[in-house]
Amino acid sequence: MCGIIGILGRDAVSDRLVEGLRRLEYRGYDSAGVCTVHDGLLDRRRAEGKLDNLAKKLLADPLPGAIGIAHTRWATHGAPTEDNAHPHATEQVALVHNGIIENFKPLREALQARGRVFTSQTDTEVVAHLVSEKVEAGVDPVEAVRTSLKEIHGAFALAILFREHPDLLIGARLGSPLVVGYGENETYLGSDALALAPLTQKIAYLDEGDWVVITRDKVQIFDKDDQPVERPVTLSGVTGALIDKGNYRHFMLKEIFEQPVVVAQTLQSYLRPLEEQVALPDRDFDFSKISRVTIVACGTSFYAGMVAKYWFEQFARMPVDIDVASEFRYRAPVLDPGGLALFISQSGETADTLAALRHARAEGQTIAVVVNVPTSSMAREADLLLPTYAGPEIGVASTKAFTCQLAVLAALAANLARAKGRLSPDAEREIVKHLAEAPAAMNAALSHDSEIEALAPLIAPARDVLYLGRGPDYPMALEGALKLKEISYIHAEGYAAGEMKHGPIALIDDNVPVIVIAPSGPLFEKTVSNMQEVQARGGKVVLISDAEGIALAGEGCMATIEMPKVHPLIAPLVYAVPVQLLAYHVAVVKGTDVDQPRNLAKSVTVE
Ligand code: G6P
Repeated sequence: MCGIIGILGRDAVSDRLVEGLRRLEYRGYDSAGVCTVHDGLLDRRRAEGKLDNLAKKLLADPLPGAIGIAHTRWATHGAPTEDNAHPHATEQVALVHNGIIENFKPLREALQARGRVFTSQTDTEVVAHLVSEKVEAGVDPVEAVRTSLKEIHGAFALAILFREHPDLLIGARLGSPLVVGYGENETYLGSDALALAPLTQKIAYLDEGDWVVITRDKVQIFDKDDQPVERPVTLSGVTGALIDKGNYRHFMLKEIFEQPVVVAQTLQSYLRPLEEQVALPDRDFDFSKISRVTIVACGTSFYAGMVAKYWFEQFARMPVDIDVASEFRYRAPVLDPGGLALFISQSGETADTLAALRHARAEGQTIAVVVNVPTSSMAREADLLLPTYAGPEIGVASTKAFTCQLAVLAALAANLARAKGRLSPDAEREIVKHLAEAPAAMNAALSHDSEIEALAPLIAPARDVLYLGRGPDYPMALEGALKLKEISYIHAEGYAAGEMKHGPIALIDDNVPVIVIAPSGPLFEKTVSNMQEVQARGGKVVLISDAEGIALAGEGCMATIEMPKVHPLIAPLVYAVPVQLLAYHVAVVKGTDVDQPRNLAKSVTVE
């Protein structure tokens, strides 16, 4: 994945390029680089590590030029070194790339056989050489790009500069997103509208296979068959202000604490409290003919989908399949006509999920998308758009987007149930009442922050941590373990509580904390039996439950964290809070980079 930006401007561009990269750091932060054309030169500055390293280099050695490209990298081919940092350049051509060139090996070998010398291990550099070879042979740059695009396979968004053409910027996309921004006598390219927000709100989204030639007096877009096309220019509505941490130490903590507000905000679009009904923003969508739901997502969004499976089955009695997006397409899923394929994504750009969406569409499914970024590819490709209103999520580990997804999915479950004639007005009234209580209950959960902070030093030395839960609390165990791994680098696993005796129990000793997520209710006793199996083997248990649960089973635990007593429907929204806070505080104790943990990226735009 990676983030790219390009500017054909009126005056110096390098500061503005770096400013754009700051908004793209969610796509990767292994290295960064800028290239401009000035005084007949392609001039680059590149730096390993976070964007600040590049900014410092530019301060010491500024880069003039009114045209430029820039890149923030998440390494796929080649270590995150300066040599592998983009832009990649030859004497004549420099470019930045987001995606993967799948046939880079044969291309590289052929180019090397023709005497071209490579300076990086990246897949990207082949594109620079392909274009450059043609330009050096006297081919016009536009034609050189057009023909080179036919030779590369895989996924790409590209922005390309030419040493001898300081008024020409060419972009292309296939599989990875790229937008064109229109300014006052300036034109921009960017991975998304957010990168261009301080420069312009006038955005055209390129279609798959499109490429664009930007000069001082013209922006000409071509489609995959090289035919000139018009793409509508829309107002992005994305604000130019960089989001800040306020008084919080990290974005993640701020986002955890925002949850009651953003969940309430999201629910406003899905509940009609006066009528005591749930209602989706798209009121005309007909659910009655939906026979089956297939849920597909990645990471934390996948766990939101797992919770939804319980709800769709319980309330609507609908058959539900669920799969991680990277597996879905490759297992030849059997998708009956009349099915609803439901994709869940914070970013709306995750490559695996987007590819799965397109596969499901080709298989005749109706496409529903629960998504937080309203301008994203998934949002634009949905038949039924179900937005979450979490606002921009900056911390790489997803928190508020997750609970907003749960809120939308609970409302969707009720809608499906009503459409299937399985929800009486009384039952619907109950659901609306409980969902409306979720923000206050999440607030109550947040009030345990300092207890959880005090517990963190006891968990931080552990090498392994287990999380157990049953029913909809099982995905919460998976999510708790994922959060801990992501930001504290402690090995953690989530298990269905009843499954523990089939293997994981062998791991239990007094060095392995076991976090048990068990609200009182129908599944409580069963989970507590599994918890006792842990305690009988010396395992140290942290029980997260309500007062009733803690009174029944809290004795002998290393610690208990008391949640408010809530209806099982909203328990996952409430119990998300303590598992997020625990991961957060453990990471702080360990001193890791909470908002930008190693090796991860917020939006994963490669398969
Ligand atoms: C990355 C992020 C996770 C996120 C996952 C899915 O791995 O680090 O936090 O859950 O992608 O992203 P999506 O934007 O599709 O929800």
